[in-house]
Amino acid sequence: MLRKTMIAGNWKMNGDASNLSYFKELASSIVPNSAADVLVCPPVTLLARAVEACQGSSIQLGAQDCHVAQSGAHTGDIAVSMLKDAGAAYVIVGHSERRADHAETNEMVQCKAEAVLSQGLKPIICIGETLADRESGLAQEVVGAQLAGSVPKEGADNLVIAYEPVWAIGTGLTASLDDIASMHAFIRAQLAEPEITQILYGGSVKPGNAAEILALQDVDGALVGGASLTADNFSMIVNAV
Ligand code: PGA
Repeated sequence: MLRKTMIAGNWKMNGDASNLSYFKELASSIVPNSAADVLVCPPVTLLARAVEACQGSSIQLGAQDCHVAQSGAHTGDIAVSMLKDAGAAYVIVGHSERRADHAETNEMVQCKAEAVLSQGLKPIICIGETLADRESGLAQEVVGAQLAGSVPKEGADNLVIAYEPVWAIGTGLTASLDDIASMHAFIRAQLAEPEITQILYGGSVKPGNAAEILALQDVDGALVGGASLTADNFSMIVNAV
C-alpha cells in the first residue's frame, strides 16, 4: 500500500504533567501491530517528556506550530530545529485556529512547511473552508487556493495534508461522507504526488464516526482534536482503522 493510514491527535492548548500517564494508557489500548501510524501533538511544554513517556511504543510525537526561522530574535517563538531536538517528527502548520488567531496567510504557512521540511521533519498542512465559503458555493475554490498557496512546491513525498472544514472543528458537526469524499478527491487531483501524499480529514472525528470516515477512498487518516484528549477515545479511533 502506497499510503499508510495516520491517526494524529492535536491536544491544542490543553494538558500538563498530570496528563503524561495518557501515553502509557494509549500504548496499551492500541491493538498490537495496528495498521495506523499514531501521532500525538501535545503542547510544546510536554513534548520532550511525552517523547520519554512513549519510549518503547510506536507512538510518534509532533508539534502544533513553528517559526519560519531556524534561530534568532523572535521572542516567544520556537524553531523547527528546537522541536526536532525535543523529539518531534511532525509539525502541524496552518491550522485554522492559527490562521484566525494569528492572521497566518497561505504564504506564511508555506514558509513554515518549508522550514519543517528543511529540518527533515514532516509538515501537516491544514486547509479548509469556513461555513460562509461553503454556503456560498466557494468551498472548492477556497480549498484550492489554500492548497496552491500553502503547500511547498518540493518535498511532496514528505508532507501531509489535513482537510478540516472550519465549521466542523470543535462544533460536533461533521461534513457529510459525500462532501468529505468529493473534497478529498478534489484535493488529491491537485497534488504533485497524488499517489503518495496522505490526506487526513479533521473536524469532530470521534469514536462513533471514525470508521465510516476512514473507510472513504481518499481519506488516509484523521486529525483529531477534542477526541484525542483521552486515551480511551483516541485509541478507539486508532482501532477503527
Ligand atoms: P476537533 O478538532 O476534532 O475537536 O473538531 C480538530 C482539529 O482542530 O484538528
